[in-house]
Parts: sequence; structure tokens; C-alpha cells
Amino acid sequence: MSAQAFDLVIFGGGGDLSCRKLIPAMYRAFKEGMFTPESRLIVTLRTKEEVGSIKDHILNKLIEFLKADEYDVSSAQQFMTLVKPVVVDIAEANDSWLDLEALLDSDVTRARVFYLAIPPTIFGLCCEQLDHFKLNHENSRVVVEKPLGYDAASANELHSKMALYFDESQTFRIDHYLGKEPVQNLMALRFGNTMFEHLWDAKTIDHVQISISEEVGVEGRANFYDAAGAARDMLQNHLLQLLCLVAMESPNTLNADDIRSEKVKVLKALRPIIDEDVDLHTVRGQYVAGQVNGSMVRGYLEELDDNSTTETFVAVRAFIDNWRWSQVPFYLRTGKRLAKRCAEIVIQYKDVSHNVFPNSSQKPRANRLVIRLQPEEKIQLHVMTKQLDCLDMTLKPVTLDLNLADTYDAVYSDAYKRLILDAAHNNASLFVHREEATAAWTWVDPIIEHWRSSGTPSLYRSGSWGPDASDRLLTADGRRWFNVG
Ligand code: BG6
Repeated sequence: MSAQAFDLVIFGGGGDLSCRKLIPAMYRAFKEGMFTPESRLIVTLRTKEEVGSIKDHILNKLIEFLKADEYDVSSAQQFMTLVKPVVVDIAEANDSWLDLEALLDSDVTRARVFYLAIPPTIFGLCCEQLDHFKLNHENSRVVVEKPLGYDAASANELHSKMALYFDESQTFRIDHYLGKEPVQNLMALRFGNTMFEHLWDAKTIDHVQISISEEVGVEGRANFYDAAGAARDMLQNHLLQLLCLVAMESPNTLNADDIRSEKVKVLKALRPIIDEDVDLHTVRGQYVAGQVNGSMVRGYLEELDDNSTTETFVAVRAFIDNWRWSQVPFYLRTGKRLAKRCAEIVIQYKDVSHNVFPNSSQKPRANRLVIRLQPEEKIQLHVMTKQLDCLDMTLKPVTLDLNLADTYDAVYSDAYKRLILDAAHNNASLFVHREEATAAWTWVDPIIEHWRSSGTPSLYRSGSWGPDASDRLLTADGRRWFNVG
């Protein structure tokens, strides 16, 4: 990727997302020479008072959120010279927008990235103002992140409002999971290795598990979270994006349109789960107090200090009705306050068709490919071998274990750095197209809708692997979750 100069404007520049994720990501890019000194980082603020203190605030946040060996005083000082604070009143078409214009490079060939780190309720208005003041030239892009709507209808309304001022090709919707290196590695694994691509379908695969488990609770976001729940927060986006990358056909090229159109095909092939099928194929849970990592933590309702039926856990049995995946269950699961933080994809192969080792006490076990995305980046393949030092043909299961950290020297991959630079370089392949977002909502909406009118979430103890009903979802099929650790 070449290091061309660009202007990045972060609306909501003093906020949590900006100071915790976006600005540290740009500092990393700066240290790696990808955010050159000719570039600008404009942070918009709400008040003049904030302008006085923002640079110190940012410096403190860099120290807090960067790893010790990433931060150094001299680079930080140079980086801070590129940071330009400005007060912009998003609600009003006043002169503050001209102050912003004055900080932007007037060269229309230079990329302008407007990152809206502001509430989605004002995305449309912010785009309208940018248009009104003619700040969105042909090399401008707008970057937004969830929550992008609450359901298909509200998402559509939001996208339509933004589309009045920015074309789809200028609109970059972030799913930060797509910016994670190991998630991209999934494509390398699938499409860069003949052996996997030929063993990747209903003929050879028994089922797929995709789990994102978190140890954290709702932190300081209880109000936001309570209106969303795990299905909107994690299933509609991150889990379905991972499912797409596992299930999609090989794109003709790695360009954005080719990748997105394959993902949309998968989303459209997802078998709808509606009405009573929701009770059959989904489980929702809510955590109560328990021990996570040796510490006692409060239950969801205590954290919220209110009553609520919002789910903090969801598990789904999904089917993709197409030629490749016919009748192969995809078990998806995510939850807060679970036993371990882990994001993992498990491809469980079928049993061998005939057992030629009848005398072995150990029967051949079906192969299993495990792709761990975090906390470590690992690829494991469970295979059968012959037990050494044994005269007869006794089998033994072993694991081929590839820890990618051993292969690459410590690199601090940073999803936001990658995604912002991609937006600056007009590479949309790791962003979510409107059609994908709509298809994902269309599948998730009936599930949430059914929950609203039926029962309450099953409770689970913090520090467990979710409600018992989640285990039953798989045992009913003669399977079990592969829990890490
Ligand atoms: C966010 C969700 O999108 O992803 C959070 O809103 C969740 O609730 C987070 O904690 C998990 O991301 P990561 O990168 O920590 O796995």
C-alpha cells in the first residue's frame, strides 16, 4: 500500500471511539510511514474549551492505549503536529463549517476521509452539512460504524439518507472484525491452499461452529446494549460476516465488488428462521452473577439496575440452502461474561467412510480444523496417527498446531489502522455493502421479532459457557460445542 497523503476528519474527535481506537491507529500508521507528514488529522469538537485541552487528552490516551514499546515521545510529538482540532457545530449550517474547510487541503485529487464517530442519529445531518458546504468532492469518502439501524427498515432509512449525499462507492461501513488480520487470513487459508478448497463442502464437512465468547460484561454501555442485545450487537454483523467468509464461493478477484457479491449470495441463501422455528433453532440467554477469571461479577440486571429481557447470549443453528452447504448446520454463538475470551471457527469433518482399524481401541476420529482468531492466532488440525511403540495398529489422535505468532515477529495488527488506510486508498473490499447489511437484517429481524412475543431469555451463570439450552441445541443433533481451554 503506498503512503499517499490524505486528510482524515474525525467527527466526534474527542469521544471514546476516536481517542481509544482511531487516533492510536493513526499514530501506528504514522510510525510505519503510512500516514505521511503531508497528511492531516482533523478532529472536530463541540466546544472551544475542548480545543484547549484536546492535545493533552490525546497524548494521555496514546500512552494509555498503545503498548509500551509502541509509544515514544519524539514520534508522538511529531504525530501531534498533524492533529488539527476545530469546533464544528454539526446541528447548524454556520461558519464553523468554513473553519473546517480552511483546514482541509483544497486539492481535489487528495483523498478526504470523513469518519463519523458520532451518534448514528446525526449521520444523515452531518452528510447533509458536508454536502451543503461542498466539502464532499469526488475523492471524499464517509466512514461509519454500527449501530447502523435497529432493524432492516431503520437501517434502510439511515443508508438512504446518507445516500442522498454520498454514493455507495463513497460509503465505507466498518465491521471491525473484517479489519482483523486473522479474519483476512481465513481467505488466505481457504483460497490459497488447494487442499482446503477441495474439502470444503457438504460432502466432507459435518458441521461448522463459529463462536465469539467474551469475558467482559456490558461495561459502561448498559443503556446502548439494553436496546440492542447480542443479536443486533454481534450476530447481525460480526458472526454473519465470519459465516460469509467461511461459506462463500471463491471470488473471481479480491476486488470489493467480487467479494461482496459472493457474501451477499451466502446471506440470501440463509434459510429463514421464523415463527416457531425460532424456538427450535435459536437460544437466547442472559447472565446472572458468577465468577469470571477468578473474580465475582454482578449479573446483567444488577449492572443495568433495571428489569430487562435483553439477551446477552445467543446461539443459532443456521442452514445455507445452496449446493455447497446443503443440510450442513452452522452453529453460531456469542455471549458476554462467558468462561473465556475467544473467537474461533471450527470445521468438523465427517467420519471416514469405512473403519479399517477394527482392532484399535481408539476408533478413527473425524478430522477437525480449528481457526482461532483471538486471543491467539492459531490454526490447528486434528488428525489420526498410529501410536508409536505399539506392535498392532492402534490409533492415536494428535494435533498439528500452528501458532502464527511464532511465524511472524510481534506485529501489532490494528483493525482500525487497516480500515482507515483502506478507506483513504479507496479499497472497499473489507467494508460492508448496503446490500449485505440489508440481507443480514432481513435474516435476523424475524428472530428478534419472535423473541419479543415469546418467553424470556434463559439465565446463565457468569463464567459458564451460556445457558444449558445452548448445549441442548447441539446435543439434540448428536453434537457438542468445542469450548476452548
Ligand atoms: C463490538 C460490540 O462490535 O464488538 C461489543 O459492540 C463487543 O459489544 C465487541 O464487545 C467485541 O469486539 P472484539 O474485537 O473485542 O472481539
